Amino acid sequence: MPQTILLLDDEPDNTTLMEQTLHRKLDGVATVSFNSPRAALSWCTDNEPDLCLIDYRMPEMSGIEFMVRARQNPRFQGIPMVMITGMDPEDVRPAALVSGATEFLSKPINPAEMASRCRNLLVLRQSLREQRDQVQRLGGEVSEAVHGIALRGQEVIINRLVRFSRARDEETGGHMHRMAFLSELIAREIGENREYCDMLLLAAPMHDIGKVGIPDRILLKPGRLDSADWEIMKTHTTIGYDVLKESDSSLLNLGAEIARSHHEKFNGFGYPRGLSGESIPLAGRIVAVADVFDALVNERPYKQAWQPGDAFDFLRRERAKHFDPQCVDALLKRIPEVMDIEHEFSDARTGKVGVVTQLSRRGASGG
Ligand SMILES: [Fe+2]
Ligand SMILES: [Fe+2]
Repeated sequence: MPQTILLLDDEPDNTTLMEQTLHRKLDGVATVSFNSPRAALSWCTDNEPDLCLIDYRMPEMSGIEFMVRARQNPRFQGIPMVMITGMDPEDVRPAALVSGATEFLSKPINPAEMASRCRNLLVLRQSLREQRDQVQRLGGEVSEAVHGIALRGQEVIINRLVRFSRARDEETGGHMHRMAFLSELIAREIGENREYCDMLLLAAPMHDIGKVGIPDRILLKPGRLDSADWEIMKTHTTIGYDVLKESDSSLLNLGAEIARSHHEKFNGFGYPRGLSGESIPLAGRIVAVADVFDALVNERPYKQAWQPGDAFDFLRRERAKHFDPQCVDALLKRIPEVMDIEHEFSDARTGKVGVVTQLSRRGASGG
């Protein structure tokens, strides 16, 4: 069977040029080209390429967002992905690596370099595939473990951290995806640049990571918390900040800022520092809207799901009180996309994977 390379670039001339180069220089390789990331993603639901070449800068969604979405499909975790960028790779490298880029190619593309990189990655892919098939034959737990090691080309630290924190909390994986994509949507609507939006998409799920430091007797307590316990619960913000702060990673630093500021309120009545207005970091103001909105419209162990209209009204009422007005307006301007995100990552579709979901009958509002 020929190996298939997926080519994604919003410029048709670029995909044509790549196709021609690959067919000329690599024997027996099939290509499938897309100029729209959404079209490529829908093809990916039923097909499995052996290698993806992805443009970084595209109008519909960035190459990073494409990779994050594609890699949600477990079958895509072992597929090499090359990010093509006209920028200095150092500027996009941190976010690209976390989202799963295997390699980088610079624009303008050097055909010989592209062909030899692709050849190497296809050999790697082939051997991973054979390894995977062999491992699957072994069956059972051993297979799972080896499979995981073989296919995971790199450590996706953020995912691990989030999964680790979620293991003790009632949050579903769906909530983390939804609130991250909603945060990214708000950031885009208020005019933040692509790099910032990508970083926010990856950092937002770390907002509640500090809950790993909250004792079980409080985190899992059914019913309302008394004021002493509530004071302890509130420290998940500063614990998260302490865990993530002061690293060399700009992503972890953004995660730290979000962890500390996502419960601040625009009017100054939030915690932990009681900051108000624009003294609250922008990422915290954005995540606050996304996190609370998603918590409202979804069922939690302690509450029914609200109707979207009621949740939008709540945001309107809390505009300039709990929430930054520009973030509320941004979300309200993009209601169809908001509902798409809610649908795409609904708990019914993604499964309620929170380990403690069944144990916990209570959660702090807004997560
Ligand atoms: Fe929180
Ligand atoms: Fe949350």
